[in-house]
Amino acid sequence: MVDLRGRVALVTGGGKGIGRGISAALAAAGAAVAVSYATDRPAAEGTVADIVGNGGRAVAVAGDVGSPDDVERMYEQVNAVLGPVDTLVNNAAVFSFQPFEDVTPSDFDRTYRTNVLGVFLTCQAFVKQVPGTGGSIVNISTSGISDNAPGSALYTSAKGALTTLTRVLANELGPRGIRVNAVAPGATDTDGARDLGLINEENVARVAAATPLGRLGHPHDIGSVVAFLASRDAGWITGDVIFASGGLH
Ligand SMILES: NC(=O)c1ccc[n+]([C@@H]2O[C@H](COP(=O)([O-])OP(=O)(O)OC[C@H]3O[C@@H](n4cnc5c(N)ncnc54)[C@H](OP(=O)(O)O)[C@@H]3O)[C@@H](O)[C@H]2O)c1
Repeated sequence: MVDLRGRVALVTGGGKGIGRGISAALAAAGAAVAVSYATDRPAAEGTVADIVGNGGRAVAVAGDVGSPDDVERMYEQVNAVLGPVDTLVNNAAVFSFQPFEDVTPSDFDRTYRTNVLGVFLTCQAFVKQVPGTGGSIVNISTSGISDNAPGSALYTSAKGALTTLTRVLANELGPRGIRVNAVAPGATDTDGARDLGLINEENVARVAAATPLGRLGHPHDIGSVVAFLASRDAGWITGDVIFASGGLH
């Protein structure tokens, strides 16, 4: 069983959807978990209450990952309540799909600010306070980096940037004992995916049929992979992208 006792994790956007599955899996393995949110405080507090109700340690922290001041404040808060963060999961993201020629500069700014700049900022703040014993960063990508679907230029190019960032940081931070990996989920049943119509009653059967394992992903399918990557059992894995997508590539 994956053992994260004594570890302190920060999960961005950890209160709902895939982030909630990740927070739950890390807590079940024994980590103390900081659950970050941008706007949905009740969701983050609900996730924290579940973890604490199961005997774990958790705290909700507010902040926009695209804001340097917010990120600094989040880390100060987590450091004060739970201690230095040794496990960072960059899960927070916004989705935006449209034909390439319809992407506006403001769509671009919003997506890259959260999905790319946000990851730079949380990683920079992470390395400033990570214990000398090292740590682990897991970036949440998408299986879309493999199928490169039409209409996904904005979202998928931002996730593609994360793949490169994951590999560069693995090389740059490896000598400091920090492993950096990414997990690429396939279609996963979350409110965010349903709100955008990525998953709905019409396409759910089609997506499941196109997936070798014959169903949609659930947040815990992603959480268990993240918990493994964060653990010592994955101590020889860095710079890798693991597809957690039921075989959908
Ligand atoms: N669902 C899928 O099918 C699927 C497939 C492949 C990859 N993914 C990836 O998996 C991750 C989670 O997806 P999901 O479906 O669970 O999404 P979701 O339900 O829409 O949740 C997104 C989370 O990100 C947070 N967030 C958004 N902007 C933020 C910001 N500027 N600062 C801080 N937090 C912010 C949200 O916080 P608030 O609610 O508090 O605003 C929310 O907790 C994303 O990286 C996504 O790209 C999802």
